[in-house]
Amino acid sequence: MTPSMGAAELLVEKFGPGPFPVVARAPGRVNLIGEHTDYNEGYVLPFAIDRHTEVALRPREDMRASAYAASFDEFFSVELVPKEFRPQGGWPDYLLGILRELSAYIDFPHGLEAAIVGNVPLGAGLSSSASLEVALAVGLARLYGLELWGLELVRLCQRAESGFVGMPCGIMDQYAAYFAEPNRALLLDTRAMEHQAVSLELSDVAFLVIDSSVRRTLTNSGYAERRHECEEAARWLAERFPERGIASLRDVDEGTLAAVSSKMPKQLWRRAKHVVEENARVLAAARALGKGDVETVGRLLYASHRSLRDLFEVSTPELDFLVEWGLEHGALGARLVGGGFGGVTLHLVPERTKEAYLAGIKEAFRRAFGRPAPCWEVHPGLGAKVLNEG
Ligand code: GLA
Repeated sequence: MTPSMGAAELLVEKFGPGPFPVVARAPGRVNLIGEHTDYNEGYVLPFAIDRHTEVALRPREDMRASAYAASFDEFFSVELVPKEFRPQGGWPDYLLGILRELSAYIDFPHGLEAAIVGNVPLGAGLSSSASLEVALAVGLARLYGLELWGLELVRLCQRAESGFVGMPCGIMDQYAAYFAEPNRALLLDTRAMEHQAVSLELSDVAFLVIDSSVRRTLTNSGYAERRHECEEAARWLAERFPERGIASLRDVDEGTLAAVSSKMPKQLWRRAKHVVEENARVLAAARALGKGDVETVGRLLYASHRSLRDLFEVSTPELDFLVEWGLEHGALGARLVGGGFGGVTLHLVPERTKEAYLAGIKEAFRRAFGRPAPCWEVHPGLGAKVLNEG
């Protein structure tokens, strides 16, 4: 699915005729499994979805950066002087954050005009933010003739989000938005910062995303708190076992955790147990995918959800309801996706039953919570791309 109006057309509509633009796009993502592992140097298994953010960019003669975002029907404009890059709140912060990062590479020779469109649901856990950051970084690098790509660009986007927007995220979302491959998930080792592509060409399986419609901005949620707890847990274990060289929860195994189950502060122990077992589930899921064993993948998804609910405590009644409905109505697997505290669930459902499944779960959710649950089927797609060279 493409955004209804292309960014290039929108640019002309909002700013008038002008030079041929650079157009870049980057997708949202679903994480198949591996939640809250990326900032613990662990494993994740995301894939890009066929929903994107698209930006059209062209130079302007003065030193202003002016942008229009279709999703908010809003303009924003700023003087391209580094000292003015201060967070404002809202979507302009993504543009400002990327511009600030780029200002470390160049003195901008001219200003720019930008139009932004997209169809990644906002704030739902499908990484609309990373798709915007990556599309902007790819497009702006092209507009200003910067040799900036690959991991360097991905890290730049993550820095913009954590250091400027203020969401202390891991690297998964920006990495997936940039490197994703069609019909593949990326088994990413966030310590080595290397990935292997794993085939998602599964016969008779549909990927359905069902939204709990609970929105909580991750910046204000327990995400930062969870991250802090994980660091605390790693520190606690490192002090107890100095000989093991524990730098993060990636260095902890199940035996070590079992040995301290009655000594470690309970909450830290639960957080650590989730991360350690989730890393093992990611590797098991990648192995199962390699054999086309979708039943095992599905079971791992349910186990991941239970762990996020009971050990990591980032689920909500709405997310639990959607996953439990899946378990009772023939989904091979289902779980919450992203940081939690709201957002979407992913359901692996036999292709031939997907229509009935969607109708059933929508109806059940409406009856239980009195509001609709938006649903989308997603297909694993390509990462960031320049569509128009300008
Ligand atoms: C958000 C963050 C990611 C990751 C997930 C949880 O999407 O941006 O880096 O930590 O939450 O797995």
